[in-house]
Amino acid sequence: MSSYKEVSAERWRLSVAPMMDWTDRHCRYFHRLLSKRALLYTEMVTTGALLHGDVPRHLQYSAQEHPLALQLGGSEPADLAHSARLGASWGYDEINLNCGCPSERVQRGAFGACLMNEPSLVADCVKAMVDVVDVPVTVKHRIGIDKDESYSFVRDFVGTVAEAGCNTFIVHARNAWLQGLSPKENREIPPLRYEIIAMLKADFPDLVVCVNGGIKTNVEIASHLQACDGVMIGREAYHNPWLLSQWDTIFYGAPADSLSRESVEEQMVEYMELEQARNGQGWYGIARHMLGLRHGLAGSRKWRQLWSDHRLKHLPAREVLALSRSSPFEFEAEATQI
Ligand SMILES: Cc1cc2nc3c(=O)[nH]c(=O)nc-3n(C[C@H](O)[C@H](O)[C@H](O)COP(=O)(O)O)c2cc1C
Repeated sequence: MSSYKEVSAERWRLSVAPMMDWTDRHCRYFHRLLSKRALLYTEMVTTGALLHGDVPRHLQYSAQEHPLALQLGGSEPADLAHSARLGASWGYDEINLNCGCPSERVQRGAFGACLMNEPSLVADCVKAMVDVVDVPVTVKHRIGIDKDESYSFVRDFVGTVAEAGCNTFIVHARNAWLQGLSPKENREIPPLRYEIIAMLKADFPDLVVCVNGGIKTNVEIASHLQACDGVMIGREAYHNPWLLSQWDTIFYGAPADSLSRESVEEQMVEYMELEQARNGQGWYGIARHMLGLRHGLAGSRKWRQLWSDHRLKHLPAREVLALSRSSPFEFEAEATQI
């Protein structure tokens, strides 16, 4: 059923990674203000949550967030097919399967990174989803499991899963060590081996191959784009979101616009007011995602403290904005980021 071929590889050129508890819909709305073009991913949503939980709570989003991919966690083809169909009916532009998360909770559910040890099961999962949706089904995975650093492991994984109808692979360029490391350590300790991604792209030139892991600057992004089709940014996008503000111009050739941090902050306040009126959502749970907006600028710490001050929770967002504007922050020109 997949009409995947109609989606050009450009779709995956730049993306913000799925991050549990971070890339919720408020965070994605914020990121979308900074880049109109980057692909945004949801946090991982498990098939169990969609089968037994509050579906609107997990799948609701703002129309502005497109292009938007739903990341699923699961390993049961029928459940994944059900969840993918649900995601497509809610209007998501892509369904992504998580084969890269090493947390023990996820391993107990027998999905995430440990699925890399079962490529034919992943192929069954992908096929079950491809059969029922007409948006791309993609896979995010690691380059290997535990201490096995053989290239053939990840090459065979990609080959098997591609045959089932997955044409886009987002590859975190580290092994996942399934025992002894916390998820956080698993994002830092196993060495990055970017050369594996270039090898995959060379062996599978018709697939869309994207790199993820440890990439922090637009210079690095530009360099990675020489070797593969796309770059996914996780932590740096969250901690230093202003990085995204140059993406449309640098990487998609859009005309430079006059975005400023202040205008983004103002638009977020409008969004907070809307969310308060629509869903009773307090500004505090939204502002937490924009605390990196002034990253690297003088006065950023005070600004961050203000927008994360729980004693101000009772104030309307606009009053917090007024406080932020009246504080004597020194807004210095930032260093250019490329
Ligand atoms: C707080 C946090 C939560 C994460 N949650 C997920 C997740 O739900 N699904 C997933 O595939 N990866 C998850 N990741 C991993 C990121 O998607 C990404 O692969 C990893 O952070 C490496 O990219 P980076 O170095 O650019 O951050 C998470 C990472 C962080 C920091």
